[in-house]
Amino acid sequence: MRHQIAAANWKMNLTFQQGEKLLNDIFEADISLAPHQKVIFAVPFPYLIMAKSEVEEEKSFAAAAQNCSNKKSGAYTGEVSVEMLHSIGINYCIIGHSERREYFNETNSILAEKVNLCLQYNIIPVFCCGESLAIRESGKQNEFVQLQLRESLFHLDSEKMKKIIIAYEPIWAIGTGKTATTGQAQEMHAHLRSVIGNHYGSEMASFIPILYGGSVKANNAKELFSCADVDGGLVGGASLVASDFIEIIRSLK
Ligand code: PGA
Repeated sequence: MRHQIAAANWKMNLTFQQGEKLLNDIFEADISLAPHQKVIFAVPFPYLIMAKSEVEEEKSFAAAAQNCSNKKSGAYTGEVSVEMLHSIGINYCIIGHSERREYFNETNSILAEKVNLCLQYNIIPVFCCGESLAIRESGKQNEFVQLQLRESLFHLDSEKMKKIIIAYEPIWAIGTGKTATTGQAQEMHAHLRSVIGNHYGSEMASFIPILYGGSVKANNAKELFSCADVDGGLVGGASLVASDFIEIIRSLK
């Protein structure tokens, strides 16, 4: 079975102490994961070492960065390189979240550079894609998301592409409480899979996990994750509340 993943995206929330407590509260719950299930915590940079040491004992749990630089190293004040993440044992990094694209002008080609650096250092990119409300209303969401994949991922050879996790996050559903319907999510996930299949073949298409993100909550996760092509979620707001995120983890197929 494909990997099923619950990924928490804390964004710029929680103090160090609150973050540590949240992780402890989650680990105290009796969560048993099947071998194909995984939980990832994308925490702010200053918390990565703490999160990494917290999850270390928990098999199938991992810490992730929320972003990385598209430059390898050098005079880029305030940036964090992939090599730095690698040097503290981080194995996952969110790439191309819509907030990075929108507020920090990250383009598909900048994201391709980040993806390349991550893979060079054996860090798995959780690559985000997704359309705005205006694009959805114009009916062009399929082409838009296809272009995001083509321009940031499709230069990869099959070996590298196999490492990617994709997160489909319609921007109109992020932090708005407005979730895509299961029909909308399944339709887009199936589309993404067919786009991957057309480029890399059907084996790749059925191998790559595609997460849904955008107002995933404790009370809708099970329904969303039950869609055939939805392999878990990338969760913002609800990942900040232990009981909610535990419920979301338990909703994995
Ligand atoms: P949300 O955020 O769950 O708060 O909508 C999801 C995300 O941005 O990854």
